[in-house]
Amino acid sequence: MPSMKPVKITNTVLRDGHQSLAATRMSTEQMLPIVSLLDKIGFYSLETWGGATIDSCLRFLGENPFDRLDTLKKLAPNTPHQMLLRGQNIVQYTSFPDDVVEAFVACSAKHGMNIFRIFDALNDTRNLVTCINAVHKAGQHAQGTICYTISPVHTLEAFVNLGIELEKLGCDSICIKDMAGLISPSTTGALVKALKEKVKIPIVIHTHSTVGYGPAAYYAAIENGIDAVDCSMVPFANGTGQPDLLLTLAMLDNSDRKPDYDLSDFPKIREHLETVYKELSAFTSPKNEKTDADILQYQVPGGMLSNFRNQLKEQNMSDRLDDVLKEIPYVRQCLGWIPLVTPTSQIVGTQAMLNVKFGRWKMFSQPAMDIALNKYGRPPGPVDPEVLKLAIEKTGQQPVNCRPADLLEPRMPKLKAELREKGFDDSDENAVLWAMFPNELTKVLKGEKPAPVAKPTAASDAAKAAVGRKYVLNIDGARHEVVVEEAK
Ligand code: CO
Repeated sequence: MPSMKPVKITNTVLRDGHQSLAATRMSTEQMLPIVSLLDKIGFYSLETWGGATIDSCLRFLGENPFDRLDTLKKLAPNTPHQMLLRGQNIVQYTSFPDDVVEAFVACSAKHGMNIFRIFDALNDTRNLVTCINAVHKAGQHAQGTICYTISPVHTLEAFVNLGIELEKLGCDSICIKDMAGLISPSTTGALVKALKEKVKIPIVIHTHSTVGYGPAAYYAAIENGIDAVDCSMVPFANGTGQPDLLLTLAMLDNSDRKPDYDLSDFPKIREHLETVYKELSAFTSPKNEKTDADILQYQVPGGMLSNFRNQLKEQNMSDRLDDVLKEIPYVRQCLGWIPLVTPTSQIVGTQAMLNVKFGRWKMFSQPAMDIALNKYGRPPGPVDPEVLKLAIEKTGQQPVNCRPADLLEPRMPKLKAELREKGFDDSDENAVLWAMFPNELTKVLKGEKPAPVAKPTAASDAAKAAVGRKYVLNIDGARHEVVVEEAK
């Protein structure tokens, strides 16, 4: 049934807002003055953790991400805390064994996480099940995700069937996650309406204003009875970020669905966010602040696009941006029309760049070959036979047919032993971070402070890359390594 009650709003400023517009660089200290004010407004939830924030805490800010969560929970105890979880990839780019995933979820819940938005980049629900069960074991809310994308295989019917499957798997709600801001108002209306007819659990939508559809898509979603929408706050809103809170509220003037929020502290919050935005000017860009319908043909997520521009510049390939963007749909098609979301956005983006630089598939990155071989899960459509053949030849491996994590041995005991060997505390918290970011965690545990704030420079390494060497890129605010190989 479509909801007729006031729409609920998740505030994303402490996670996706700065991930999309300031390369995930907002520190806990910069958040402190507004957290309790945000807690008083009455949001459905505060997105405070997950996505790239955990990586960024360790790598760039010298913070322990669990300490951040503790602090934010203490300052905002009344609003549910929400995080973005990449299914079996946790908050990294490759699959982890079930015991690590389970421990990560248990630790997050222990430190105050309530709503876990769980997605799989390929919409392969087998990669969500362990997370869903672990969240329920911790007594918290498991939100299943439909990653929205446009392709010949991503039909309205396919998305609705995915929603039905998520409900059957026991999800407490469903998120339509439009990471690239590609969902048009008419599609949003039709999808929300169809889902509301077929599933009973609440439906929420997450989009980015990259193209400019954002506010209109929310309006269509709300008119069709969606339960909740994600908003950020200016200046960490609009452009490659979420639609702005005030704009969304203003759209609902004279509507029964407008939530009744106490915005008396709003000027204080706004003023503080303006200050922080200025402090992060090394990571912000006017290009990310505007909307651009050109993106419709490339379907690139906002965060990816902003870092892509920097990378190409550092590789003296700025004049090839159009070529690389045009190559992206071709790479997607060859890899089974995978949606572009972390980590597939990075993998497809990198492969498109390699295709443009060296010729199509002359350099076939290991992660792209892994996608072709189903190592991340089932792609939504068929992998191009020639590309699959090349991947099989180059790796000597056959495509995976089971759930990828079924091939992984439990790792928690080994991770703990490694921590003890290094003289570190072997807590579950340390073990799950150690699994994903060993070098970065080492620095944080030793109390080493990262270098002073500077623009990401990892991509400059990429310019020096050659065959057989590691290609280091910085996309979506996170370091991404691929080994470059020459095609036969
Ligand atoms: Co997002």
